[in-house]
Amino acid sequence: MDKLVNALKIAFASEFSFYLKAHNFHWNVEGIHFAELHDLFGNIYEEVYASIDPFAENIRKLNAYTPASYGRFSMLSQIDDEAQILPPEAMLSELLSDSDKMTKLLKLTFDIATAAGEDGLANFLAERMDAHRKHSWMLRATLK
Ligand SMILES: [Fe+2]
Repeated sequence: MDKLVNALKIAFASEFSFYLKAHNFHWNVEGIHFAELHDLFGNIYEEVYASIDPFAENIRKLNAYTPASYGRFSMLSQIDDEAQILPPEAMLSELLSDSDKMTKLLKLTFDIATAAGEDGLANFLAERMDAHRKHSWMLRATLK
């Protein structure tokens, strides 16, 4: 169960960091395609943000405490922080690479949850994977 709790905390901290980066790009994107990219990043951060509370509560359901500070998030997250203001194409490709990374991380956590017989949690993680597959599609299609 410790293995599952640790994996879930890493996936959660990474998801929160991904959410923050999508919101950052929604705020700070510039250029001729501003309106479309502002909306694209807006749709992504809203979808991911809606998953944050149930994600955290899944950690509590395993009788563990949820990480909830920037210090803990940066310790646990697999998604690198972005402090620079990037050009629009770099925002798209960085968020695409992060979304693909999230899909892989969620799949690893899904496998651990499945092996532990935590089917409800596995179902939640499968839905998160599917959501990231969709975000990756939208980002990849926009980059072409
Ligand atoms: Fe906004």
